Amino acid sequence: LNIHDLPTPCLVVDRAVFDTNVAVMSEARPGLSLRPHVKAWKSTAIAAILARRGHTGFCAATPREVDGMAKAGLGDDLLLANEVIGDAAERLGRVGRDGAARVTLAVDSEATVLAAAAAGIREVLVDVDVGSFRCGCPPDDAGRLADLCRARGLHVRGVMGSEGPGRREMGEDKAEKVERAMAVLLEAHDRVGGDVISGGGTGTFDSNRWVTELQAGSFALMDRDYARLGGPFRPALHVLATIVSSNPAGGWAVANAGLKAIATDHGQPGVDGAHVLYVADEHTVFSPDASAATGAVEVGDRVRLLPGHIDPTVALHERMHVLDGDEVVDVWPVDLRGW
Ligand SMILES: Cc1ncc(COP(=O)(O)O)c(C=O)c1O
Repeated sequence: LNIHDLPTPCLVVDRAVFDTNVAVMSEARPGLSLRPHVKAWKSTAIAAILARRGHTGFCAATPREVDGMAKAGLGDDLLLANEVIGDAAERLGRVGRDGAARVTLAVDSEATVLAAAAAGIREVLVDVDVGSFRCGCPPDDAGRLADLCRARGLHVRGVMGSEGPGRREMGEDKAEKVERAMAVLLEAHDRVGGDVISGGGTGTFDSNRWVTELQAGSFALMDRDYARLGGPFRPALHVLATIVSSNPAGGWAVANAGLKAIATDHGQPGVDGAHVLYVADEHTVFSPDASAATGAVEVGDRVRLLPGHIDPTVALHERMHVLDGDEVVDVWPVDLRGW
């Protein structure tokens, strides 16, 4: 099968680029010092490749991801790095109880601790707000929550904290911001105890020396927003689209992949040799640079769109087609979609 035979829009992965990205990360963060985040690619096929390299502990964002990983035999050490209550906590409790997986849950409030205990979850990390403007308890509440966990029979493995948006920043004060966030996490860890200090991500893979395990996912496939930071990881995934309309007089062309095929929350897709004008439901409208090879765009031509943000783009698709050059050599199902 050749790339030209694929129905569009679809996801294509350049296997050589993917392999290089994984090798670079593996060397920087060997074995369990990397806890790959499955939310970036939602695929047990990719998780299995990372596990074979010794990265057998994983992060997840949804119970569905934890469940799917356990069912795929990848449940050595699964961390739901996210807060859940009610049915979702119970579902996680069942995954752990069936013996198919070791499940650890993030908690950041009394309600989440009680939900974890009621669901029969055995192990937790205290999630600490280190300035990411998302989940996480106030740092000075971390010790109290850890005590509450222990009183409820939960084993507290340690802490997690996300530097959050700071990871994707380029500013000169980025290192300082990360260090400040991690100082807060370490202080909370003193009060919580345990062996695990979990955090960080692709943007801090070589600078966050404080965490015992790095929670990175984007590095494997990358996206346009992350790629602008520079660094060793290269975009491996594109949305392949077909030109369905062309307006040479007006200077634009229309590709058949829009918001339902590519996420724009971190900016417009990139098209080599062209400037994206806008993205609509089913269309990306772009203007080819006069000097570029794409200058003459005709209906039926194919174009690769580089997503601004990998996670929500992958989640829109059912599979990724893996390429060696133009040849399709594998298919990776996006089998961890949903919640
Ligand atoms: C809890 C958590 N940890 C880690 C990450 C890092 O992932 P990335 O590799 O995209 O930096 C994220 C991404 O948003 C996250 O939500």
